[in-house]
Amino acid sequence: MSGWFTVAAQTDFPVGTLRTTDLDGTPVAVFNLDGRYYAIEDICTHDGGILTGGALEGDVIVCPRHGARFSIKTGEVLSPPAYEDVTTFPVRVEDGMVQVRDARWD
Ligand code: FES
Repeated sequence: MSGWFTVAAQTDFPVGTLRTTDLDGTPVAVFNLDGRYYAIEDICTHDGGILTGGALEGDVIVCPRHGARFSIKTGEVLSPPAYEDVTTFPVRVEDGMVQVRDARWD
């Protein structure tokens, strides 16, 4: 998939919130952190837990299953038991709409 997918209107996506979507079978979480948008795959690299059920600590999300921590901005894994980063996705705002795309197969 290479097209942009609309997640939400910018006006319906306030700072400090997140939205989840499905990009061609890949669950993706999009975050509004201080007015900038970031998207990561919504699957923990440890054992497949859904990350968006976990706690948010600034720009970090904590996996609700076993506590691995990931940077929302970079996808970097920050603590075990996960050791692989999560995938990130490009996000843009176009005509007031927050959009995300899967650029992995370009
Ligand atoms: S599934 Fe996320 S830490 Fe185990």
